[in-house]
Amino acid sequence: MEAAPSLGFGLGLRTVHYEAVLAGDHDVDWFEVLSENYMVDGGKPLYFLDRIAERYAVVMHGVSLSIGGTDPLNRQYLGRLKALALRCRPRWISDHLCWTGVAHTNLHDLMPLPYTEEALAHVVERVGAVQDFLGRRILLENVSSYVSYSASVMREWEFLREVAERADCEILLDVNNVYVSGFNHGFEPTTFIDSIPVGRVRQIHLAGHSRHADYIVDTHDHPIADPVWDLYEAAIRRFGPVATMIERDDHIPALGELVGELDKARAIAARVLGHASAA
Ligand SMILES: [Fe+2]
Repeated sequence: MEAAPSLGFGLGLRTVHYEAVLAGDHDVDWFEVLSENYMVDGGKPLYFLDRIAERYAVVMHGVSLSIGGTDPLNRQYLGRLKALALRCRPRWISDHLCWTGVAHTNLHDLMPLPYTEEALAHVVERVGAVQDFLGRRILLENVSSYVSYSASVMREWEFLREVAERADCEILLDVNNVYVSGFNHGFEPTTFIDSIPVGRVRQIHLAGHSRHADYIVDTHDHPIADPVWDLYEAAIRRFGPVATMIERDDHIPALGELVGELDKARAIAARVLGHASAA
């Protein structure tokens, strides 16, 4: 795969930050937009997206592709996704390695897949169809999970790696999700990181979670936890200067506070890679 320059350090675009983003008094290199929020015919979200996309690099991140689902791919959804991409010209388009519904009913949750050869072939075929339709490669993100399947014959990281290699897609590595799933399922998160091929990871997500006695929930409503920062350091050491961003979906603080957290990611990358080559 050809090497693409990293975008640097970004944030998930949230409506409460629209004005602050456009005011420009911040050190954010790019923004990730939630695709479904902008699949509309007009109104405030598109107004701001147009202006923000004029000034900043943006990437699109979706939650409704259901690449692992058994319903046929939703051509209407894909058409709207493609139209949005024509409008905001994202550097890339991502969604999750999961299924989100069955029999045309959306569960509004990112459900893990059984890690079987059958599921692998199914996902690979569908990624190919999506990439053909969009005319570009997509990124798939590892989800956090709380259940596993007795039918699985491989580990999550093996499944993700095989999907990426066989379908020739890229990976959005959510470092927090690796940590959350590792804790919940009892695997060593560095094993996951070390099993993902260098060169396939185009973007990294960081986020906060909620720790309970014997499980962790991926809530995106806290600052990033220390063990996740440690894992981020391991990821940058392995994958190099990959575009990194923070997701905050609840208890969203002022933009400046999130930029402060983003600066911590910059500092870690700079320390690991050396200032000259940091993302
Ligand atoms: Fe994520």
